[in-house]
Amino acid sequence: MRAEHADAPSAPPVAGGPGRGLFVTFEGGDGVGKTTQAALLEEWLTQQGRTVVRTREPGGTEVGVLIRDIVLHHRGEVSPRAEALLYAADRAHHIDTLVRPALARGEIVIQDRYLDSSVAYQGAGRVLGSDEVRRLSLWATQGLLPDVTVLLDLDPAAARTRLDADDKPFDRLEAEKEHFHARVRDEFLSLAAAEPVRYLVLDAARPPAELAAAVRGRVEPLLA
Ligand code: TMP
Repeated sequence: MRAEHADAPSAPPVAGGPGRGLFVTFEGGDGVGKTTQAALLEEWLTQQGRTVVRTREPGGTEVGVLIRDIVLHHRGEVSPRAEALLYAADRAHHIDTLVRPALARGEIVIQDRYLDSSVAYQGAGRVLGSDEVRRLSLWATQGLLPDVTVLLDLDPAAARTRLDADDKPFDRLEAEKEHFHARVRDEFLSLAAAEPVRYLVLDAARPPAELAAAVRGRVEPLLA
């Protein structure tokens, strides 16, 4: 059952109340294949007649698209705390206007990245501190945690090879150095170890069809 984090201010009641709908997030470094897995899960659930909202952070709303452009493509400096606040602002608006309403309608939300990305990238990558960054996101979302978080884990060097093959210019985060991405990976693994019930950790080097089957295996029992 979805948790509302105890440290966070209590969430306003949503129509239908918490506990309806299902909130699944995909996490991991850049180039690990989250988008592919999110799409495969959506396809499978839709075939079962489920109503799915597939979305992402940053950029899942109109406001979010503007924020995404700043955090990923601004050419000058963005201070680390400003970056953390921008991701949190995107998240606050996204959860309030899109995700909570969908969950309240009993729908399944499949989301590419959520608060664990902030803890890993801003908390560990930018060294702002995991606890503070997590608290910021919990404040922004009034304590909403996913039912399931799939972590696609991959060595950053292998992920970099995949990104290189895409032949697209790197965004601000992708362009960070190897040790930044190593810290991000380590933090994701620590987060998963600390919350084994919420997290499913998969080796992203496995074939996409195998990964998709593992994800379905985790989600299916929660659909009843
Ligand atoms: P993506 O949509 O291609 O995954 O790109 C989003 C980038 O933003 C990715 O490099 C991870 C980064 N990011 C953060 O640094 N903090 C966050 O809270 C989120 C959601 C993403």
